[in-house]
Parts: sequence; structure tokens; C-alpha cells
Amino acid sequence: MENIKNDVLKEIENINDTKTLYDLRVKYLGKKGIISELLANLGKLSIEEKKKQGPIINSLKQEVTKIFDEKNKEIELNILNEKLKNEKIDISLPSTKIANGAPNILEKLIEEVEELLMSMGYDVVDGPEIEEDKFNFEMLNIPKGHPARDAQDTFYIEGEEILLRSQTSPVQVRTMLANKGEKPIRMICPGKTYRRDDDDATHSHQFNQIEGLLVDKDISLSDLKGTIDVIVKKLFGQDISTRFRPSYYQFTEPSVEVDISCFNCKGKGCNICKNTGWITVAGAGIVHPNVLKMGGYDPSIWSGFAFGFGAERLAMLKYGINDLRVFYNTDLRELNTFDRKDVE
Ligand code: DAH
Repeated sequence: MENIKNDVLKEIENINDTKTLYDLRVKYLGKKGIISELLANLGKLSIEEKKKQGPIINSLKQEVTKIFDEKNKEIELNILNEKLKNEKIDISLPSTKIANGAPNILEKLIEEVEELLMSMGYDVVDGPEIEEDKFNFEMLNIPKGHPARDAQDTFYIEGEEILLRSQTSPVQVRTMLANKGEKPIRMICPGKTYRRDDDDATHSHQFNQIEGLLVDKDISLSDLKGTIDVIVKKLFGQDISTRFRPSYYQFTEPSVEVDISCFNCKGKGCNICKNTGWITVAGAGIVHPNVLKMGGYDPSIWSGFAFGFGAERLAMLKYGINDLRVFYNTDLRELNTFDRKDVE
């Protein structure tokens, strides 16, 4: 008995993994193990012998079990300590640098215009990007077959009636109809528009416009000019001035092209303003009586102005970007090339 115990102690001494320990445990204590065999053989002995041997073998079994249990604990503790040592975190190491995110500058610009106009009592409204011909053209005074349609090479979806809106102006009509010719309107609608353009640095088949519409009583071109002036000064600086050039849109009369004085050269002439000292940023005008009428507003009572900015164009000017595709790019290396501090 003493030998068995010594054998166990000797064999167990250099074990330092649980698998080998388990195998050794089976050798002694398993069903067919050395000690189990001894116990099984008790049956063959006389009662006297059994009484003598039984307690001895049992106490051997207990002792050996204890030896194994303790060794097991010791190994597990060693493994744990080893693991703790290896996985130790050095809290004094500098952390991994995580790049700061920043809002997309196009979104940022749109938000800036929204906030400004909301402070002037405008509602920000939405309209569908899949639009009816009726709203995108007809009710804006552009009937079928009108040559002005050619200028907006439109994506038609179903026949001639359903299309991807080529401008945000249909939202003017929708807003007028929703207000039933009864209430004054102040709304802006920033949103995506689509045209069959080949994509290059200054064209995209998808771009954003910021539409504005005001309908009230006794509205004149000077109200429009004042409003545009406030927007432009907010975006480009207080020293920027605005000028209107006569233009033609079917849904406004008179129509104007909005130019701002060049923020870069202050009018001296540079490559941004193509040496003219002025940059065109929007189309605008006094809402055409036909459009008011089709929108349910009596033009003998109501008048209004409307404007449409190209959002990408504004952002390109404001942030000095010369390739429109940058806005739709997710490459941070490129997005970080313009000064994003300004937009955080
Ligand atoms: N919808 C015009 C375009 O896409 C821009 C525009 C011009 C909008 C004059 C207006 C406006 O609201 O009054 O070219």
C-alpha cells in the first residue's frame, strides 16, 4: 500500500498539465485502475481479511484521491497565473488612435441653410423623389412638348407620367396644394434630384437642390433679394454682395439668376469666378400667376417668390472642392483633404 502511494507521488511530481494528470488518475483510480482492482479483489478474501484490508485500501484510495485533487488545483492555478502574466495589460501604453468622424460637408451645408431659414419662419418639407410628370413639369407651367423639358434630361420610370424628379420645384406645387390656397407659405425643401447626365467632375446623375417658396400678400422681388442676401452672407461672409441677372424659368416671372460677388478675389477676378468677379449660385423669381393658380392660390390675392440653389455647387464653392464626386466618396483619405475642422 505504501509503495502504491509512493509510486503515485513519484509519478505525479513532474506533471504540469491536466491531461497527463487525468491519464495518471485513470491508471490508479479509474474503473480498472490499480486501486479499484484492489477493491474489487476484496470480494475474493475471507471475511477476516476483508475487515482488515478494506479500511486500508479505502484510506489509500482517499489519500491518493486527495493527492490528485491537490495536484489538479496546483496545475490549474499555475495555468491561471501563466495566463494572467501573458495577458497582462500595460495601461501605460498609448492607445490606438481612432480617427474622428465628421459630418459630410454637403449634409452640413444643407443643415446650415435649413437652420437659418427655420429661424426666419420657414418649414423644412420633403417631397417624393419618384415624382409625377404633372408636378415635376405640368403644374410648373411646363406642358408636354415644351422645349424647356429638353434642358432637364429626365429619367422616366413609367411611360411619360412617372419619373425621377429632375428638380425640387415640384415640392412647391405639392406645398401649395397642401395649403389649399388659404394660408401663407414659407418652405424650403432640400433634396435629391436626378438627370441623365454623364458623371464627371462637375456633373452627376444625382445631385441636391435646395428649393425655397414663399407665398403671401404683396411679395416683391426686393423680398426675394433680401432673403437671398441673408442666405448668401451666412454661407460666404458678411462682405458678400448679391446681384440679380434677368433669366427665364417657366414657373417664375420675372426670373433671375442669382450671382454673388466672388468671395475669393473680392471682385478682382480669379479662376473661381472665371475673371468676372461674380459667381452664379441660384435660379429664382416671382412665382408665375399660372403656377399659383394651378396650386390653388388666387394670383389676384397672393404673390410669392421661389428660389433653387444647387447644394453641391454651394458646398464646392464654400469648401474649395473642385470635384463633385468627392461628396459621394467614402474614402476618408480624400474626405480629410479639405478642412473638416470647419464642419465638425
Ligand atoms: N428648378 C430650377 C432648376 O432646376 C431652379 C429654380 C429656378 C428653382 C428658379 C426655383 C426658381 O424655385 O424660382 O434649374
